[in-house]
Amino acid sequence: MKIISILNHKGGVGKTTFTGSIAQALALTGNKVLAVDNDSQHNLSSLLNVGVRQPNILDVYRANLESAPRLFLSSVVKTGLPNLHIVTSCGDLLDAAVGDVYHLKEVMVACGLDRYYDFVLIDNAPGLDKLQMSAVNACDEIFVPTELRQFAVDGLVEMERTLLERCPRGGRITKIIPNNYRNIRRHNTFIAALNKMFAGRVTATRILTDTVFDEVVTEGKILFLHRLYSKGAACYVKLAHELFRREEEEIWGALLDKRGEHIRERARERYHKTKKRAEAGDGDK
Ligand SMILES: Nc1ncnc2c1ncn2[C@@H]1O[C@H](COP(=O)(O)OP(=O)(O)OP(=O)(O)O)[C@@H](O)[C@H]1O
Ligand SMILES: [Mg+2]
Repeated sequence: MKIISILNHKGGVGKTTFTGSIAQALALTGNKVLAVDNDSQHNLSSLLNVGVRQPNILDVYRANLESAPRLFLSSVVKTGLPNLHIVTSCGDLLDAAVGDVYHLKEVMVACGLDRYYDFVLIDNAPGLDKLQMSAVNACDEIFVPTELRQFAVDGLVEMERTLLERCPRGGRITKIIPNNYRNIRRHNTFIAALNKMFAGRVTATRILTDTVFDEVVTEGKILFLHRLYSKGAACYVKLAHELFRREEEEIWGALLDKRGEHIRERARERYHKTKKRAEAGDGDK
């Protein structure tokens, strides 16, 4: 099992979109995935169509080490995808809820999550306070989606330094993922700068700008089932291949199968609904 924190002290750079999309891609290709929403905005809980549930991550932070593992496990809820579960968040989740920044780690270890999951993905709020430190201490690796803007790129070196100081025993930044990429000179200059600063850690795959990410959230849809042929979905297939060393063709094959199953299932549902309506109509005569 691998625990990955998705982190960037900057807001709105695509952390939640990345966490949700990668979690769905991993789950649809046969991995058991637990997503953890560690952000009071609870966007990941919304993206995965679950919303806020009780108990949730706030109860885990508030509980003592004796009861917290049981609470963590009872916070796990199913999403629309069979292999993808989530621990939701809520609007009251504040830094003040965190006592010890190793609490989350100890809870997750006590839960024995490796018996159930291949991947745990923790989505974080912007900033670098106790909530984010808890996630960093709990994880094996940190993935950093970033936008290609001056301040966003400048801040990453400082962010890594701060993490080393504040979380000496935590996970380390292993991947930096350029998001909202367009093939323009300004973006390519930032990519070159990132490659200099973080040699070997910047993914070759860049996530292109695509309105599909906003569309699927608004419509409550799943990127790989409803918009598999979008350029956004294609970027995530490439990313999954690069980050998790799975053959690209194998990923496409699994996603196409799942999309086919999904379409057949929806068609069956529509057929039964129409049939029922027709029968009810006959009965009225
Ligand atoms: N590659 C992309 N192309 C177009 N829109 C994108 C892309 N990635 C993310 N977005 C959109 O940008 C907005 C911000 O993304 P997201 O919520 O994932 O960022 P975040 O880093 O999680 O934000 P926060 O710091 O508030 O948690 C969303 O509306 C999302 O749909
Ligand atoms: Mg977010």
